[in-house]
Amino acid sequence: MKRILFPTLLLIVLATACTKPYSPQEKLTANDAEINAIIAQMTLEEKVEMLHSKTNMSSAGVERLGIADINYADGPFGIREEGVPNGFQSAGWTLDSATYFPTGSALAATWSEDLAYKYGTGMGREARLRGKDVILGPAVNIQRLPVGGRTYEYLSEDPILSAALALYYTKGVQDEGTAVCIKHFAVNNQETNRGSVNVKIDERTLREIYLKPFERAIIEGGAMSVMPAYNKVNGDYCSENEHLLNEILRGEWGFKGMTVSDWGGTHSTMGAMLHGLNVQMTGSNYLGQPVIDSIATGALTEEQVDEKVRQILRVRYAIAPVPADVANTEMTSQPESQRIAREVAEKAIVLLKNEGILPIKAEVKKIAVIGQNAVLKTQSGGMGAGVKALYEITPLEGIRTRAGEGIEVSYAPGYKNYPGFRWGPAPAEPNPLEAAAIDEPADPELLAEAVALASTADLVIFFGGTNKSIETEGSDRKDIKLPCGQETLVQALYEANPNLVSVLISGGPTDLQVLEPASPAIVQGWWNGTEGGTALAKVLFGDIAPSGKLPFTFPKKLEDSPAYALGNFPGNNTGGDLFTLMFRPDVIKMTPAERQALIDALPKPESDYTERFYVGYRWFDTQKVEPMYAFGHGLSYVIFDYDGIKASVKGDKVKVSFQLTNEGEMEADEVVQLYVQRLRSNVEWPEKELKAFKRVSVKPGETRKVSLEIPLADLRYWNEETNAWDLEHGQLRLLLGSASDDLRLTAEVTI
Ligand code: BGC
Repeated sequence: MKRILFPTLLLIVLATACTKPYSPQEKLTANDAEINAIIAQMTLEEKVEMLHSKTNMSSAGVERLGIADINYADGPFGIREEGVPNGFQSAGWTLDSATYFPTGSALAATWSEDLAYKYGTGMGREARLRGKDVILGPAVNIQRLPVGGRTYEYLSEDPILSAALALYYTKGVQDEGTAVCIKHFAVNNQETNRGSVNVKIDERTLREIYLKPFERAIIEGGAMSVMPAYNKVNGDYCSENEHLLNEILRGEWGFKGMTVSDWGGTHSTMGAMLHGLNVQMTGSNYLGQPVIDSIATGALTEEQVDEKVRQILRVRYAIAPVPADVANTEMTSQPESQRIAREVAEKAIVLLKNEGILPIKAEVKKIAVIGQNAVLKTQSGGMGAGVKALYEITPLEGIRTRAGEGIEVSYAPGYKNYPGFRWGPAPAEPNPLEAAAIDEPADPELLAEAVALASTADLVIFFGGTNKSIETEGSDRKDIKLPCGQETLVQALYEANPNLVSVLISGGPTDLQVLEPASPAIVQGWWNGTEGGTALAKVLFGDIAPSGKLPFTFPKKLEDSPAYALGNFPGNNTGGDLFTLMFRPDVIKMTPAERQALIDALPKPESDYTERFYVGYRWFDTQKVEPMYAFGHGLSYVIFDYDGIKASVKGDKVKVSFQLTNEGEMEADEVVQLYVQRLRSNVEWPEKELKAFKRVSVKPGETRKVSLEIPLADLRYWNEETNAWDLEHGQLRLLLGSASDDLRLTAEVTI
């Protein structure tokens, strides 16, 4: 036996040593020889068919050569229900109910790479059950504006946090044999005029802030496809942006896969062909017949088409098609994904404030739950990211189930819900619980009913926040005020009964100036997925300690945030949304020329990012503007002690370790955060920047040694003189703590 084992082992060792270590992107080229042989057998027409949509959610393969179509699925937090071939309307299937995972900002509030990975695996597996090859996600744009319509889809205002989660989400999805299509590349930070706005941005800010999440997911995670965004960056549409797609993505990052334009975001044949786009979604007016015509005139060559097809086929070869008789034979939502969704939800909830009334005390026997956000489901709405969930536990259901027999839980709607723009015809009978305008004042009857209920309760739980019509793709909020008289209501409730907890159900930040003094405890509850209500009840009743941390700053008021403070937003941003236009029934019927005329007539606004890299807390800290709740903030039911920091530079890393003790009486997680401050630097820097973080579980009374590392590469800045990354040597102060404004230990190192 030994005699056989030794030579075998030797062979394995030799083989491993001789194999070229493929980078995640290079792995995509493994089938290039076979792919080239297939391309040689394809007609020009077959090749061009692959460069544009076949249906609203697929692009063509070549049946004759056994190449399957590529099937795409929205979106970032649940496999979207099946639509009809030529649109987004429901196909009316019954097995396509998916798991609704907590939305992007909630996932980010976990600050957990491990959970982002599991989340990705759940999404990847459910995509396979539906026969999908590519998930249109993760959505990783930086949250530049508190009002951003897609803040809830995106992860964080910080590039290091966004990049880590984007990377692990990507790995999770792709390890299950599904490709990601990471979006929206790049600098798609507003919905207002997203189809026409030209973002003016300097190279350093672009590199250090806005490209980071994409860079990690592509280089380290091997993301197989990328969705160029609707907007322009420095003059060119993202779907034909030489700098973004050819120079950076393919050139510097070595991307080998395919780019798929956002729906309706392709703008020209030559631009797309020459500057990095592979697939036009949707339509074929640019990457269909015009490509064949351009080859005939000599404006393009067939080799250029071959290169596009090769990049698409690399993804097709890397992702095995799901056989038709296997796909869609079971329910999309699976128990394992539901379990992951619950774990993420439990760890996402952020305790913003607590004057000792949480967790709910044993003496509490009567709870008044007030506010429609306790009963409204959050799975659908918001456009592309809506999910037809198999089930969704609302906060009220979660509280009732957890409270059990001994506690009476009553409910009153408290305020009207603003349903937003209605696509279909208005209902014959107006819904008495719906508001006609977002700023409609409190409804006197609903208010009186809620106050009466609150005044007889032991504890009031007020559910406020927004909804998915207010925070939605396609438009930004006008402000971040709580809608529909919620402020008046919470003040009245607090006067009636000061034992009050406010829970915010929203994806982005809200203005809490009125709510905060009227709430002894405040919880950010997010749009927290299929198991959101279960998770929330566990936290409120103290079965688990809250452990989420804010992935973005809650400003006191909108005007404090950087783009507003500098007048960069809304600026001249008024006008229509390209995507909404493209899919309007009357526009669908137009000829390509008429559609083009309509697009050309869109306003040509600009967004000037003069705040540069001072995004989110980088601005608040540097300008010394106090936020309502700082980036990274989140309380627990226990106290954590930080002690004994050690820091050194070893090789190409800064290494930090310290002792973390749970001084409380229950097991709890802490998210430790490591910020860097530059001392005596010749380069301009924000006051401090997050550079590492870790979620750590600690038993009551336990002390754990926690180690963190910062790769020196993450300390570089983009030098605009040399147009390259540069590491400035010198002294750094390391700031370690529980939030960006709660730093407990410091150390200095020289690099
Ligand atoms: C969105 C994308 C989405 C696509 C398909 C677009 O409007 O911007 O994020 O994946 O539609 O639904």
